[in-house]
Parts: sequence; C-alpha cells; structure tokens
Amino acid sequence: MEQRSLGGLPVNVVGLGTAATFQLFRTPSGEELETRTRVVDSCLASGANFIDSSPMYGESERMIGLATAGRRDRFQLATKVWIRGKEAGRAQIADSFRLLGTDYIDVFQVHNLVDTEVQLAHLERLKAEGKIGVIGVTHYLTSTYDEIMDIMKSGRIGAIQIPYNLTERTCERAVLPLAEELGIGVIVMIPLGSGSLVRGLKREPDITPLEEYGVATWAQALLWWVLGDPRVTVAIPATSRPERVAENAHVGSLPIMPAELREYVSAEAGRCL
Ligand SMILES: NC(=O)c1ccc[n+]([C@@H]2O[C@H](COP(=O)([O-])OP(=O)(O)OC[C@H]3O[C@@H](n4cnc5c(N)ncnc54)[C@H](OP(=O)(O)O)[C@@H]3O)[C@@H](O)[C@H]2O)c1
Repeated sequence: MEQRSLGGLPVNVVGLGTAATFQLFRTPSGEELETRTRVVDSCLASGANFIDSSPMYGESERMIGLATAGRRDRFQLATKVWIRGKEAGRAQIADSFRLLGTDYIDVFQVHNLVDTEVQLAHLERLKAEGKIGVIGVTHYLTSTYDEIMDIMKSGRIGAIQIPYNLTERTCERAVLPLAEELGIGVIVMIPLGSGSLVRGLKREPDITPLEEYGVATWAQALLWWVLGDPRVTVAIPATSRPERVAENAHVGSLPIMPAELREYVSAEAGRCL
C-alpha cells in the first residue's frame, strides 16, 4: 500500500476508524470481541494497519489492545485524550497505554480540542520521553478550523484529524493548504459520511470508468476520491465487517486518482446522493 508522511511518520494511506463500530459501553461478549479481532486481522492482511481510537469510543481501546496483543509492532495506533483537567488528562492518557497494551502510541491526539492547552503540554512531555510518536488535534466541526489552524501554526503538532468527503470539502479552502505548507499530516475522519454516502442513495452510481483500476464498489470510489488529494495522509473508514476492511484498503494501492475521474466521481455523487 502507498505510504505518506504523517508529520514525519510513514503511514499506509488507508487505515481503520473505530467510532461506533467498536463503541461498546459494556464488557464485550466473546462473539463481539471475536468479530473485532477479525476486523483487526483483516487490517493486517490488507495493509490497513493504522488504527484510530479514543476513550470516547467505549471499549474500543481495550478491544484494539486485545486484538493486537503479541503483534503490536505490526500496527500503528492512534488514540486521543478527551477530558478536562491536568490530573484527569494524565489518568486518561495512562489508561490508554494500559488498555492498548503498549508503552508507545504512534499518534496521540487531543479529541475535539477539549482542554487543548493543558493536554498538549502533557503529550509534549510524553513525546520528549519517547512514548509518543506524533501529537495531533481533532475536530469534526468545520467551525473550529480557525482554532485548528492557530494550533498548526504554533508548531506544537504534527497531525490533524478532520472530516473530508464528497459532501464536506471545507478543509480544501485553508486547512489543507496550510497542512501542506507546514508539513503537517492529515488524518481524514468520516470519509464515507459515517455511512450516509453509501447507504440510501437516490440512484445507483455508475462506476464503470473506474473498473479498469479494479474499483468495484461505490465505497471504494469515495475513498479513492479522498486519497486523490495528495495533502491527505491517511483515511480511516470504520467498519464492523472484516471483508470491508480489504475492500476499503484496495484503493490504497492504486495510483493517485486522475483529475478527470475525481470530477466524474464528484458528479456521480451529485447525481446519486
Ligand atoms: N472528533 C473526532 O476525532 C472524530 C469524529 C468522527 C470520526 N472520527 C474517526 O473517524 C473514523 C471514521 O468516521 P466514521 O466512523 O464516523 O464514519 P465513516 O468511516 O465515514 O463511515 C463508517 C460507516 O461506513 C460503513 N462502511 C465502511 N466501509 C464500507 C464499505 N466498503 N461499503 C459500505 N459501507 C461501508 C460502515 O458500516 P459497516 O460497519 O456496516 O461496514 C460504517 O457505518 C471514526 O471511526 C473515528 O475513528 C473522529
């Protein structure tokens, strides 16, 4: 799979998100854990080995920790701190290391800019101690982009996580150009519109022009479109189905999407969504 630089860390361009799909708020049953483990197995088999989590996602960190146990070095793990206060932040961050079963976390992000100043300071200390690879911030609301860009300019982060898909292109205006200028990695959340871009379409998209690239599904067309912007580092579609991990990962081995196909997919989205 193609690799791009996430603030200096080479990562495969298709990874895995775990909001909703790994988001249980009770101890998972054996079957629930087994399904998630098969999703993680499929990540490894298909090269989508960058996995994003958060304490917000219930049992996600614990299940990732269990599913990657004994093979931690074959994955890149990203998680977040999502709490206010210095001591609470320290405790939550320590929990993430424990639940993920690791002493090194590749990407640690401040989730939704919650108490950013306080949490960044602690993440910076951990990075200096060699326990964190890249520090980032995330938000799902485009109204936070000014704040995100101020943090980008501060030189304190190597990655951002923001939404980007065919119906949410706000980041193209200023955030992606700034990320490129500063060499900051871009993790794309919600690349399939949390599923809304693939479910309940008005019409069936015609993907015939993409078939010669081995693109066989509309979800693949949407993900390839996202990666068609070279300022994007990694897209993290979430899925609860192991077979879809491989389907999604396929586009990470394709060449950059030709401009005319990007236009075409955009027009198909307009016709079918
Ligand atoms: N503030 C933040 O930091 C923040 C906010 C939002 C998201 N995120 C991160 O970004 C990740 C991705 O966003 P998301 O989970 O909201 O949405 P998404 O990845 O855009 O969409 C996920 C949905 O798409 C479906 N799907 C996946 N692959 C598919 C395929 N090949 N064909 C058809 N359907 C497919 C999944 O259903 P199935 O399970 O049935 O496959 C799931 O319902 C999150 O999981 C999380 O890690 C971060």
